Amino acid sequence: MESPFKPNILHGKVSLITGGGSGIGFEISTQFGKHGASVAIMGRRRGVLDSAVSALQSLGIPAVGFEGDVRKQEDAKRVVESTVKHFGQLDILVNAAAGNFLVSAEDLSPNGFRTVMDIDSVGTFTMCHEALNYLKKGGKCRSSATGGTIMNSSATLHYTASWYQIHVSAAKAAVDALTRNLALEWGTDYDIRVNGIAPGPISDTPGMSKLAPEEINSKARDYTPLYRLGEKWDIAMAALYLASDAGKYVNGTTLIVDGGLWLSRPRH
Ligand code: HXC
Repeated sequence: MESPFKPNILHGKVSLITGGGSGIGFEISTQFGKHGASVAIMGRRRGVLDSAVSALQSLGIPAVGFEGDVRKQEDAKRVVESTVKHFGQLDILVNAAAGNFLVSAEDLSPNGFRTVMDIDSVGTFTMCHEALNYLKKGGKCRSSATGGTIMNSSATLHYTASWYQIHVSAAKAAVDALTRNLALEWGTDYDIRVNGIAPGPISDTPGMSKLAPEEINSKARDYTPLYRLGEKWDIAMAALYLASDAGKYVNGTTLIVDGGLWLSRPRH
């Protein structure tokens, strides 16, 4: 689908996208590139990174992939530094890396709980922390007089309660707290905007194939006011809005992009 945004809205910006090699992260990488940004992607799987980078480069997008796990501070530091070394600066950090699986609270081991908290929440904080010196106004290698921006990937699971996702619900609640607190502290001190996106069910993603019960495609029609699943494109457009100057006064919010699903109830 054609973008409603001008193709230069991220011209000259350098973005780093964790989990940028697949799923929603890859669509964000692609759309950022199509709108003028250089794109560094971080992920654990070399093969996934390599094919994502080739696909981006074939569209004429300056792209590079760095192997790393957001749970390891040394990886986060190395990838942030490598991005700046490669492209000269860092303007946009997108924390799209996430882990998930369905399991009842009774069957979830504390280590399983911790694993998702480590990837989604601690990993997000670690990446933000390592990127701070490059994103802040007047920071290392910053050519722009303003600060950069951060986008965190969230969910709507924790607004109510969600079956078999206690670990992800807790992790995303923590992510939302990070978004608000960093927006306050770093917005005030360093002119960095920090926002989040909470996607609903998005077709053709690892999240959907892992988490969605078989019937979601038909049931979604009954529950979703807009009568359809979202597309990765919908999330990427929200990310473009938040990352570009269109969102320059938006700070500390988590934008729900779910067609109204989380607040809907069956008709009766
Ligand atoms: C129960 C499980 C489990 C499962 C892992 N564990 N999978 N428990 N059911 N299906 C437990 C393990 O038993 C172990 O605890 C602990 O979690 C760590 O497991 P590992 O396999 O060692 O972890 P690791 O190899 O690091 O893999 C991390 C992962 C994996 C999260 C488990 O699924 C992953 O890497 N996923 C990344 C890709 C992904 O999930 N993408 C989808 C994101 S979608 P014990 O006690 O046995 O040691 C998304 C959408 C969110 O995030 C919003 C939804 C609307």
